[in-house]
Amino acid sequence: MLESSPEQQATAEYVKINSSSLDVQMINSYKSLKPFRENEARAKLLELNDGSKWIFKDEQDAHSAILSIGASSSLFESAAYKLSILFGLVRVPETRLAAIVIDGKVVVGSMQRFASNGLSVFEFDRYAFFSPQRKRRFQKQLVLMQIFDYIIANIDRSSDNYLIAKNGDVIPIDHGISLRVSDLHRIDFNKNVNFDDKIKKIFRQRENQIYLEHLKGINADLLFEIPELSLQQVDLIMARIAHVIDLVGDS
Ligand SMILES: Nc1ncnc2c1ncn2[C@@H]1O[C@H](COP(=O)(O)OP(=O)(O)O)[C@@H](O)[C@H]1O
Ligand SMILES: [Mg+2]
Repeated sequence: MLESSPEQQATAEYVKINSSSLDVQMINSYKSLKPFRENEARAKLLELNDGSKWIFKDEQDAHSAILSIGASSSLFESAAYKLSILFGLVRVPETRLAAIVIDGKVVVGSMQRFASNGLSVFEFDRYAFFSPQRKRRFQKQLVLMQIFDYIIANIDRSSDNYLIAKNGDVIPIDHGISLRVSDLHRIDFNKNVNFDDKIKKIFRQRENQIYLEHLKGINADLLFEIPELSLQQVDLIMARIAHVIDLVGDS
């Protein structure tokens, strides 16, 4: 287990209290591990012995020893996946913490199921493919993804951080810069992009009310079940959910 010095612990955004409950997948042998594509610094395509394919990313911040301090991109990736299941707004591909043996050395990071049906925004003119229904589905999911991003304070949703399936589904990836306590504190919506209006509009549509009902059912106890999250993060996430619910409530 990696140890952190007291200084590191003091400067970290928070210290994990309960890290022993983290579920880290140990991978001693696998079929292949190679850069996902040329010039890709971190993301590697990992093929396991069972044939399943994953994107593996090593832990970004060398100081945030994943097993002792919570401020770690891998923890954020894994927590974002679990939160996406709880919230039901968007579907993040299955993500796990992983420790993989590379050249005899253990490398810690996150692994996410490779979305073989996902195309990058740059790979095709997305609208050319879409029937009006698919286009609506796509647009709706983009807004739901923004709401998800708001709740987890994801500040890194650029066009290379989501994929698009041909049926119009949005596939959110790359949550390594989300859930940071400093960002979770910033609760205001960005008024410039009329985000409030978008949220209200989508939740007021009858077919989408289920999403709001679902969010209303989230409580701190459910979030405490996610060992990747600190108490502070749980509090702040709950405040952000409350903010979304309030926003739709008053008009
Ligand atoms: N689950 C996934 N399925 C398919 N492609 C992925 C997946 N995760 C990442 N990628 C591809 O790898 C690239 C880099 O991954 P990303 O998670 O964005 O890492 P980084 O933190 O380096 O930006 C993405 O832009 C995407 O093209
Ligand atoms: Mg990225």
